[in-house]
Amino acid sequence: MSHAEDHDGTRRDFLYYATAGAGVVTAGAAIWPLVEQMSPSADVQALSSIRVDVSSVVEGQQLTVKFLGKPVFIRLRTPEDIELARSIPLGDLVDTDSRNPNKPGQATDQNRAMDEEGRWLVMIGVCTHLGCVPIGNQSGDFGGWFCPCHGSHYDSAGRIRKGPAPENLYIPVASFVDETTIQLG
Ligand code: FES
Repeated sequence: MSHAEDHDGTRRDFLYYATAGAGVVTAGAAIWPLVEQMSPSADVQALSSIRVDVSSVVEGQQLTVKFLGKPVFIRLRTPEDIELARSIPLGDLVDTDSRNPNKPGQATDQNRAMDEEGRWLVMIGVCTHLGCVPIGNQSGDFGGWFCPCHGSHYDSAGRIRKGPAPENLYIPVASFVDETTIQLG
């Protein structure tokens, strides 16, 4: 057993996202030399926005990238994920805020997902209890994400359903640049 395998699930998750992030983030390398010459603060602004190539993500798969020091989950949801999330009455939710700066309002699945069909879900992968990284791929009692630190269960829209976490997983500012590129920030 390797050293990494000795650790708990959270540690393995972290290693996974760090590795994946190195391969998929395209952080505007071409404009870097230019902004560096402009002002000390301009390079900080450049880092506050990254573009992620999602062309290799298949249905049911989650890509995890690092953005502003935090893991961001980018999941291409299955029809079952979407149907399950959209079947939940708002009255069953612990937190009814969408936690989405792109679509503020109630925590409907439509206000959580990026696109109308609800295929793409982009979230900050930090448990709203004490900050662990939840495990994904239809984990937990509600078919979404599970935080093993203290047992928080999130549904397939990343909404908290059971456990000590008080709020839905947060969603970063995100937009499609084109069909296969998502900009964070
Ligand atoms: S940090 Fe996730 S349940 Fe406590």
